[in-house]
Amino acid sequence: LRLANDLNENEILAWLCEENPENLDKLWQYADKVRKEYVGDDVFLRGLIEISNMCSRNCAYCGIRAGNSKTNRYKMQVDEIIKSAHDAKRFGYGTVVLQSGEDRSTNAFEIAEIVRQIKHETGLAVTLSLGERPFEDYKLWKEAGADRYLLRFETSDPDLFKLIHPSFGSTVSDRFRNLKDLKKLGFEVGSGVMVGIPGQSYETLAHDIWLFGNMELEMVGIGPYISHPETPLGNGEVVLSIPENQVSNSELMTYKAIALTRITCPDINIPATTALATLNKNTGRELGLERGANVVMPNVTPSKYRVLYELYPDKACLNETADECNLCLSARIKSIGRTIGVGSGTSRAMKNRG
Ligand code: 5AD
Ligand code: FES
Repeated sequence: LRLANDLNENEILAWLCEENPENLDKLWQYADKVRKEYVGDDVFLRGLIEISNMCSRNCAYCGIRAGNSKTNRYKMQVDEIIKSAHDAKRFGYGTVVLQSGEDRSTNAFEIAEIVRQIKHETGLAVTLSLGERPFEDYKLWKEAGADRYLLRFETSDPDLFKLIHPSFGSTVSDRFRNLKDLKKLGFEVGSGVMVGIPGQSYETLAHDIWLFGNMELEMVGIGPYISHPETPLGNGEVVLSIPENQVSNSELMTYKAIALTRITCPDINIPATTALATLNKNTGRELGLERGANVVMPNVTPSKYRVLYELYPDKACLNETADECNLCLSARIKSIGRTIGVGSGTSRAMKNRG
């Protein structure tokens, strides 16, 4: 098997199927080399603020879906969000990420005002991860000073996407459309997928990874799918036909997807995700960083809310405080000989595109 930045879809597929440990070692080494060459040893930290777990949507895999009546819902007050942003700044993080369920009752102006205030008071880069919204809302947020937007397309298989992601009223979801809108507005754009969602074949995942490069994304987040018992996919209410070549939602498969993404998109930002850390709490993040990733997203959400933002069970860092995660992550990054990035950590891809 060949290793080069121009791997085609079939080669990506062959690597995803590779199980020989010696060959996989070559994959890890090559991904690490590409990472070092294109984005260096800096690991950039993004302070994640889970601003609300309210959600209007009913994704079959997600623990905070509207239909989960067992979740206590919260929405952080504006001053609490601002305080968390100041915490992130105090920890030396260059970016805050505001994430929430796709809550259609939240007015776009509310968000714009929060973005403005964070930019004004902290000067941090602001990333939004608030789901599918109309072009006008994205535009308003960009004008308010938001720098980046994260929206995973979850899977490039349109039939599977429909099954796991029911439409909202009469609006048909088209995340590729949303991502195009965001790019057009000048956002630095991130997307990504879950590895091993039921119904995902190797071919589909290979196509997902090929698309990351083709779409010219600046960031790609990849984590394993983790079953949540209070969801239709987790409790067997939704049964998807499992292809013969179903991708496993394993730690190993996640590393393969991360490494191949780094190789095919050398200059983008790739996080070692919380979902990956959830599968291997001891060394998941470190191994992610050594197999292609260059970003970590420490949680700065206040503890009382953090426990309620349960996308999947047993999430890493659920019982830690923002201070604890800060110390923990700095130590982990240093332990593998990497440095902590200073500044906003805009991707090389964004800079290269100008
Ligand atoms: N397992 C893993 N990842 C999940 N996400 C949502 N639910 C799950 C789950 N059960 C991911 C989705 C979403 C991101 C915010 O969290 O990919 O885009
Ligand atoms: Fe949260 Fe280690 S990063 S405890």
